Amino acid sequence: MIRSVVRGIGSALPRRIMKNTDFEGIVETSDEWIAQRTGIRQRHIAADDETTASLGEAAARAALENAGLTPDDIDLIVLATSTPNNTFPATAVDIQNRLGMRHGFAFDMQAVCSGFVYAVTTADLYIRGGQAKRVLVIGSETFSRILDWNDRSTCVLFGDGAGAIVLEAQQGEGTIGDRGVLAASLRSDGVHKDKLFVDGGPSTTGTVGHLKMEGREVFKHAVGMITDVIEDVFTQTGVTAENLDWFVPHQANKRIIDASAKKLGIAEEKVVVTVNLHGNTSAASVPLALAAAVADGRIKRGDLVMLEAMGGGFTWGAVLLRW
Ligand code: ACO
Repeated sequence: MIRSVVRGIGSALPRRIMKNTDFEGIVETSDEWIAQRTGIRQRHIAADDETTASLGEAAARAALENAGLTPDDIDLIVLATSTPNNTFPATAVDIQNRLGMRHGFAFDMQAVCSGFVYAVTTADLYIRGGQAKRVLVIGSETFSRILDWNDRSTCVLFGDGAGAIVLEAQQGEGTIGDRGVLAASLRSDGVHKDKLFVDGGPSTTGTVGHLKMEGREVFKHAVGMITDVIEDVFTQTGVTAENLDWFVPHQANKRIIDASAKKLGIAEEKVVVTVNLHGNTSAASVPLALAAAVADGRIKRGDLVMLEAMGGGFTWGAVLLRW
């Protein structure tokens, strides 16, 4: 059977690093409060000339180089983002143009922090359905542009960045020994839509709006939702927590990551954590964490990797793949 195998990975971060202490003087907060509650120490913040499209392009170019491919080899670009350059056209099309790609097709996917997990699942279906042989899957965000910089309960949590992978159709045996995407589980429930949202939009206010979050409510649901979809993937595949080599969760809050890993019985040393360095970069968080763990040699070819994310909507999901 056809499998969607990761052939390359890359990432890109804005030049400017903003440390927790840099918020002192902007809002009433402290390095201690932020670090204790979230595990975040710093985040990257985009300059005016750094956008979701430019960061996404840089991550895509890095992933193509890592794969030993060029834009000519790609059939489809799926960009996960909630902070597009424009309301339309899709920022994926902008990235397609920046890459000089005059063939194939490109679209954006909007599932907030779960965007990359949704995008990988979607790309896998295009590949296994025979519609594409190689797909660039990108998560790119500039959440700094939709933050209320006077709201200390949200502005300290988020950062900007991008990560990308190239998925390629390869022949597999149809077993969990195959490389590539092995299983996925996606969920959403709009009953929670007002717990984490942006208070603007083209069809309502005609403005971009700012992020609003009931942090405690998100926290309350996060662990249960994350573990539900992962357990569904375990059931689908017969894989257990002990079989996993790496757990690459959405990087929103270290306490949510720790509680999810503990509930699932995933050993601490298998958990990839970058929230301390990047903050919550929404759809970019999982590919940024993946890229870091591949670059430093932790994730190696043949390793069994579980990705998960949960975000606004709520949306949540998990993907199991063999690197
Ligand atoms: N610095 C200092 N004090 C603060 C700050 C800050 N930056 N922010 C809030 N506080 C204060 C509050 O005002 C409150 O003060 P009060 O008791 O006098 O009213 C106090 O700290 C406690 O506030 P809580 O919100 O109850 O703090 P909590 O322990 O719940 O931590 C946090 C807040 C970190 C946001 C937590 O709820 C959380 O992580 N929630 C989940 C967020 C998340 O994971 N989002 C992911 C999805 S993102 C996406 O999909 C785009």
